Amino acid sequence: MDHLGLSDVFPPFNLRIQAGELLLRPITDEVLPQLIAVAGGGVHDPALMPFYYPWTDAPADRLPTEFAQYHWGARARWSRASWSLEFAVEYEGVIVGTQGFATKDYVITRTGETGSWLGRSHQGQGIGTQMRQAICAFIFDYLDAEEITSGAFTNNPASLAVSRKVGYRPNGANRLVSRGALALDQRLVLTPDDFVRGEPITVWGAHAFRAFIGLEP
Ligand SMILES: CC(C)(COP(=O)(O)OP(=O)(O)OC[C@H]1O[C@@H](n2cnc3c(N)ncnc32)[C@H](O)[C@@H]1OP(=O)(O)O)[C@@H](O)C(=O)NCCC(=O)NCCS
Repeated sequence: MDHLGLSDVFPPFNLRIQAGELLLRPITDEVLPQLIAVAGGGVHDPALMPFYYPWTDAPADRLPTEFAQYHWGARARWSRASWSLEFAVEYEGVIVGTQGFATKDYVITRTGETGSWLGRSHQGQGIGTQMRQAICAFIFDYLDAEEITSGAFTNNPASLAVSRKVGYRPNGANRLVSRGALALDQRLVLTPDDFVRGEPITVWGAHAFRAFIGLEP
């Protein structure tokens, strides 16, 4: 008897975005161990915490499980009212980090927030800029977004530099708590007109994904 494939059941598993040497690919279970190895090698200076949810503060023996549970949870909680699309970032054939886009009521709001990380040994070589340009091109060109937001603590110059280079503009600041202390979260917003594009993207699986999130009748 014929049966559905996993990517029919969950169309994000069929999405791929390629731009030059960069490939954004779905975080399937096969990729999780590779991502856990990259994260285990270090993501940032341990003295600082760049993430709103401090997942890298997990003890080394718990981080792999919590990392996998986060990604399983994102799939499990997916609904048209609230979804979080997470890609593994492959550069020159090597898994180097993740790039995500999270949104609520997307069909109406046409906005959402990017978030990303790279293993430390892969930072500072322009990959962070290329992966942000690739996901923004996908969201504007294939998902008809009207804006894309991002945010970074004001002590995260690399993330702020990527946002600036890609064309995001400052959009106020939030006063948050990080590791028990005040942390200023610089809000950023990108519009299609301001977007500074990188390499052209090639996309697979967009049509089924559009239907899945409610963009197709
Ligand atoms: C943020 C991150 C994804 C950026 O990726 P990346 O590949 O390192 O970024 P790029 O190499 O494309 O660009 C980094 C830019 O930051 C600049 N930069 C880095 N450190 C800097 C510093 N201390 N002061 C000023 N600029 C700095 C670089 O000069 C570069 O800009 P340039 O190309 O104009 O010279 C990556 O650094 C990372 O994973 N950091 C840890 C996790 C994190 O902070 N995630 C984001 C949470 S909001």
